[in-house]
Amino acid sequence: MTFKPAQWPRKLRSTEWFGGTSRDHIYHRSWMKNQGLPDHLFDGRPVIGICNTWSELTPCNGHLRDLAERVKHGVFEAGGFPVEFPVFSTGESTLRPTAMMYRNMAAMNVEEAIRATPLDGVVLLVGCDKTTPSLLMGAASVDIPAIVVTGGPMLNGWFQGERVGSGTHLWKFSEAIKAGKMTQEEFLDAEIAMSRSPGTCNTMGTASTMASMAEALGMALSGNAAIPAVDSRRRVMAHLSGSRIVQMVKDDLKPSHILTRQAFENAIRTNGAIGGSTNAVIHLLAIAGRVGIDLTLDDWDRLGRDVPTIVNLMPSGEYLMEEFFYAGGLPVVIKRLGEAGMLHKDALTVAGEPIWDQVKDARNWNEDVIVPVERALTDHGGIAVLKGNLAPNGAVLKPSAASPHLMQHRGKAVVFEDIDDYKARIEDDSLDIDETCVMVLKNCGPKGYPGMSEVGNMGLPPKVLKKGITDMVRISDARMSGTAYGTVVLHTSPEAAAGGPLAVVRTGDVIELDVANRRLHLEISDAELAERLEAWKPSHDVPASGYARLFHDHVQGADTGADFDFLKGCRGSAVPKDSH
Ligand code: FES
Repeated sequence: MTFKPAQWPRKLRSTEWFGGTSRDHIYHRSWMKNQGLPDHLFDGRPVIGICNTWSELTPCNGHLRDLAERVKHGVFEAGGFPVEFPVFSTGESTLRPTAMMYRNMAAMNVEEAIRATPLDGVVLLVGCDKTTPSLLMGAASVDIPAIVVTGGPMLNGWFQGERVGSGTHLWKFSEAIKAGKMTQEEFLDAEIAMSRSPGTCNTMGTASTMASMAEALGMALSGNAAIPAVDSRRRVMAHLSGSRIVQMVKDDLKPSHILTRQAFENAIRTNGAIGGSTNAVIHLLAIAGRVGIDLTLDDWDRLGRDVPTIVNLMPSGEYLMEEFFYAGGLPVVIKRLGEAGMLHKDALTVAGEPIWDQVKDARNWNEDVIVPVERALTDHGGIAVLKGNLAPNGAVLKPSAASPHLMQHRGKAVVFEDIDDYKARIEDDSLDIDETCVMVLKNCGPKGYPGMSEVGNMGLPPKVLKKGITDMVRISDARMSGTAYGTVVLHTSPEAAAGGPLAVVRTGDVIELDVANRRLHLEISDAELAERLEAWKPSHDVPASGYARLFHDHVQGADTGADFDFLKGCRGSAVPKDSH
């Protein structure tokens, strides 16, 4: 798009707090000065918030205080006034029932924290899975200049001479134990080998995917996504982003200029090329909802369908984020999309330039990691959106993580009414199940298992694993970790707890999955389905009070991003009912 920078100098938002001699101006400045701040910082220069998701309970973001200092260097250097502030940090590996339950709360926290304070621009310091979308959602709803800096991935994990990827090997090792191929002692030894350094998951899981989405959307400087957390260039990226946000404030370059339909289409195609997480579907739909872009599940299917996956990273491939960075990182991938006619080259970025200008000189230094199209991991790397009488509003499947022989499959349903039912019965050798069956898990959608837990890649029954079988068709309304894999149908909408058809599937029903034709069908008559739905009654627990109740009552379906109904849209930066 054509962007015309605003005139500079001009009066900024922060001058409402700091730029005068009234009692209130003195009140705002005086209390700030207890931190030892000199007068000239209040002279009308851009005030830059550093919105920090640092927390020792979000270990993936545990190093962000150091990065915040680097951002401050850049802000000062460019003539801005940096102020760091904390926001709710959604740590994937620690929060229960799931960090996703708190994404919307964190987004609300970020939105209100930005709007209520004297900020002219904001640096979003993120990393772990939900921290990136929640801060993007909150900042988009305020729409002051914003730039993303991610914490970067951990170094490669190594165990018994082999690369081990965050999450991916957690699932692999736990299946190996059930199959009798690994001892518990070995599993314990692998624990620290999987997490060798500060940073986010080192696979192309949700954190790396969302870092890539931020870059592809144009909301982070080019090259940001893949730099390892401990690489000195991560600090340089933080420093440069600090400098850049000051100029963005002067130019008045806001998220609404960058987060256009073209930007979302670029991100969807990028997700296909990197073999990104299915979680990106939900998060991008939610971010788009904040800026009034009518993005749909059908856009995901249409735009991603012909994008080959060319990034050879776990869980779909062999390598890890460290190697992706050494190979050239995301700019190489975006350049490839541009060369293939799959990129809106003029989409604007935080750099103030079109995305193509940012990537056109990128070079690929390792064709085993970023492979040529002829050696693509899959020719159809996007997210497949399935529809049918079992998923009228859609369900998703990640072809690059699925088994080719199961992409067209008909099998007998083995139904688990909820996650407790699954846990109680899955290891029972008398369970009537084999590898031809379709495992169905209900009541794990946004309302059913508050937050829509990442349990969709439910482990296979031990008696099947012991035969050497590693994949079966699984269907649920849950999500799946971006580090996981398998022929797993997710986000089935409407969810079971909202009375979707998934709620009335019975053990013994036959289900047909046909990925090529995007079909998910329960083989019963329309009359039978209608009769079952008529007789259906909710069986999930409705939280009595508190945030869980608010979540249950206001969360929307996965097919539209699982945002709260009252949070959609951009509310701007004006302080409501300002008494000053
Ligand atoms: Fe935090 Fe994976 S658990 S990035």
